[in-house]
Amino acid sequence: MSDIATLTFEGKSYELPVVTGTEHERAVDISRLRQDSGLITLDDGYGNTGSCQSSITFIDGEKGILRYRGYPIEELAEYSTFPEVAYLLIFGDLPSPDELAEFRAMLTEHQFIHESMRHHFEGFPPDAPPMAILSAMINTAGCFEHELVEPSNDAQFKDQAARLLAKVRTIAAASYRMSMGLPVNYPRADLSYTANLVHLMFSMPNSYGEPSPELVRALDQIFILHADHEQNCSTSTVRMVASSQANLYASVAAGVCALWGPLHGGANMAVIEMLEHIRASGEPLEKFVQKVKDDPRHTRLMGFGHRVYKNFDPRAKIIKAACHQVLSKLGLKDPLLDIAVQLEETALRDPYFIERKLYPNVDFYSGIIMRAARIPMPMFPVMFAIGRMPGWIANWREVNMNAKSRIYRPRQIYVGPTARPYVKLADRVQGR
Ligand code: SDX
Repeated sequence: MSDIATLTFEGKSYELPVVTGTEHERAVDISRLRQDSGLITLDDGYGNTGSCQSSITFIDGEKGILRYRGYPIEELAEYSTFPEVAYLLIFGDLPSPDELAEFRAMLTEHQFIHESMRHHFEGFPPDAPPMAILSAMINTAGCFEHELVEPSNDAQFKDQAARLLAKVRTIAAASYRMSMGLPVNYPRADLSYTANLVHLMFSMPNSYGEPSPELVRALDQIFILHADHEQNCSTSTVRMVASSQANLYASVAAGVCALWGPLHGGANMAVIEMLEHIRASGEPLEKFVQKVKDDPRHTRLMGFGHRVYKNFDPRAKIIKAACHQVLSKLGLKDPLLDIAVQLEETALRDPYFIERKLYPNVDFYSGIIMRAARIPMPMFPVMFAIGRMPGWIANWREVNMNAKSRIYRPRQIYVGPTARPYVKLADRVQGR
């Protein structure tokens, strides 16, 4: 295989190095292109542009492969836990029993938020969007943390990562409780990370019932499946902010804002709204699918399609199976699951979706499980953010540990007005 690409332009040839990754992906390194040829590249939406070389997550979109640090997502979802996957993503390998025990103890030790943060919650209107609260309160929590000095200092970084992971879940639950006018619960030392989330969100002073193991396991799997996903919109945002050497809290708070959009982490909520709409309308599914095909810019099949997966999103398969398991174990029936399954079958038979390689993505079924866990819909993107936190932390660290890291600063092609002289106010035409 050649490791040189040649570009010919205006009678001149330019040799560009070709980089090959450990999974044999190949990229033309254009770092010197402008210097050598005066040209830059243009790639709207970065669909064909690699922003970095990363060792954290690998996706093969054509084959529907997803691996965290080399471990297949199917095996991690089956055998691992969210704290263990967080450790794997952040530190690069599965922890030993002692390392995992130590990390879990750190998550327990740091799961409280500073008492004075409660006043900040009170400043939000009751109907404030949970993602706005989460982003603001992550930065607030950062104000109470000692400034991270050296990301390469394993011990210090482990402490900082554990603090952020532990507190983000407590912040999310507290924001929900405050929005409902309910007393804020305190974390319990005897519960796992995810079981504590269920406790923090739903326990009432007069009934500290134990969280359902089935639901806790399903939510833990949801967090595992959301933990990282290469250079998606929000992770790229975290890396962009990290490249300016902004601190960890500021960087992930920016990631929360990017994730909030309905085309990204807000899709899990949009899927449920879509399924509810279909159920309430009583329309045949084919009619809704036709509406999508007629005007996809206006009516998207939410939870379908992906920039990278042009085959099944492996996470969607796992979550779909988990939906059926959780609902049957809990003796629950959710009509929206039946509609989702029928909608998937209808779309996957339709040439419009087949030709565009549109398959269910991670968001298509995740909302069904969160409904079974009684998570309120506005909190769905927050659950995604809690799950994605380890991936953001790992990517922030990868940017900061790379000695060759430079501030991210893409170029552009200017298409606005060319040079023109200033026109004094008195000389301007009225009404323009
Ligand atoms: C996530 O990047 C990641 O890794 C993200 C994520 C992660 O873990 O971080 O996987 C999480 O964000 C999953 C995606 C959640 N979003 C949705 O489910 C929203 C619905 N999906 C689409 O908006 C869309 O598929 C995207 C945003 C996911 C991908 O957009 P692209 O790659 O820019 O695709 P596109 O808009 O260029 O679409 C290509 C074609 C177009 O048709 P044509 O113009 O060629 O005729 O496919 C059509 C689109 O109209 N299309 C859809 C569609 N998605 C794409 N048509 C109907 N319904 C859809 N959902």
